[in-house]
Amino acid sequence: MTQDRISKIVEKLAPSGIRAFFDLVLNMKDVISLGVGEPDFVTPWHIREKAIHSLEKGFTSYTSNKGMPELRKEIAQFLQKRYGLSYDFLEEILITVGVSEGLDLAMRALLNPGDKVLVPEPAYVSYGPVVELAGGEPIYLQTNIKNEFKLTAQQIDQAAVKGTKALMINYPSNPTGTSYTKAELLAIAQVVKKHDLLIVSDEDYDELTYDFDHTPLSSLPGMKDRVIYLNGFSKAYAMTGFRIGYACGPREIIAAMTKIHQYTMLCASITGQIAAQDALKYGQRDVAEMRKEYNRRRRYMVSSLNEMGLDCHTPQGAFYVFPSIQKTGMKSLDFAKDLLEKEKVALVPGVAFGPSCEGYIRISYASSYENLQEAVKRIKRYLQKSKE
Ligand SMILES: Cc1ncc(COP(=O)(O)O)c(C=O)c1O
Repeated sequence: MTQDRISKIVEKLAPSGIRAFFDLVLNMKDVISLGVGEPDFVTPWHIREKAIHSLEKGFTSYTSNKGMPELRKEIAQFLQKRYGLSYDFLEEILITVGVSEGLDLAMRALLNPGDKVLVPEPAYVSYGPVVELAGGEPIYLQTNIKNEFKLTAQQIDQAAVKGTKALMINYPSNPTGTSYTKAELLAIAQVVKKHDLLIVSDEDYDELTYDFDHTPLSSLPGMKDRVIYLNGFSKAYAMTGFRIGYACGPREIIAAMTKIHQYTMLCASITGQIAAQDALKYGQRDVAEMRKEYNRRRRYMVSSLNEMGLDCHTPQGAFYVFPSIQKTGMKSLDFAKDLLEKEKVALVPGVAFGPSCEGYIRISYASSYENLQEAVKRIKRYLQKSKE
């Protein structure tokens, strides 16, 4: 058997643009990497200590498929206090292996073959693939720098043709850092209701919002029943390696997602779940400190990039800036490779986030202030030399 070993759907999937580029970085020394999307902070000590202690006490088993009831209860209480959201921890919350699993489960639970899903572009790298793997068809809605990469209600209105089932949205966004005010979300909610769409809302970076309060889409009037709210511990609590996320939504959708989860994942790791509980209970001061530091870096990066002539909007959240390199006349992959080779700064070419993102680069400022200062110096030198 030499043909057709691999599913046609999988064969067609493009490999992640970020990984391909970072294979290059692995073989180089002294690189300042502003490429990978994870906090440079180590998980706060009290969270790690809780995890270690749980291992010492022998908590090494499976948990309930949906996740430990204590953690789900903690999440329900937290969301109530933080956003006034009320989710029943028994039936409306599922603990997932990061938001990554939540995205995949949501698509597989919702889609029938050929269903269309609206995906704003620039898009986080897994969005198109998880829609396609579930047999759906992503419809990309391009946003641009003039509008700070915001999706508009009008775009949704025009794109929501027959067979459109859902909108996938992520705010604050990876890769642009763009977020939405309550008024902007209300306009989106209105048109989503008009077209009777579901929303998969990836709010993984909600705690890293700088200029205004984050508003969950599910907290808006009449929206709770059509939103699958995804969040997790990776970003705000610097817990990427623990692999814990959660999905909240209408009980029949959470039940459907749980069905898939129990056959594929069984449950998330118990150590991670215990650590996550501690993070929610006692980690708010740590989150505030990290947010403050990210904000300082954000201001520095935006002003430095604009000063050197790379137009950069001010992102409202996450830990990315997404400047234009159009003035250099280079393709984003060529720019990234050349900068890496000549100045040893690694960043992500815009095209990794969709074809309309050519002419942009993503820089992560989840790196120390000193690293950022050095990287700015090198990028400036690179641009100057390219002009000569
Ligand atoms: C927008 C977005 N969603 C989801 C994820 C996945 O995060 P995790 O699975 O660690 O929760 C990431 C990670 O970079 C992300 O940027």
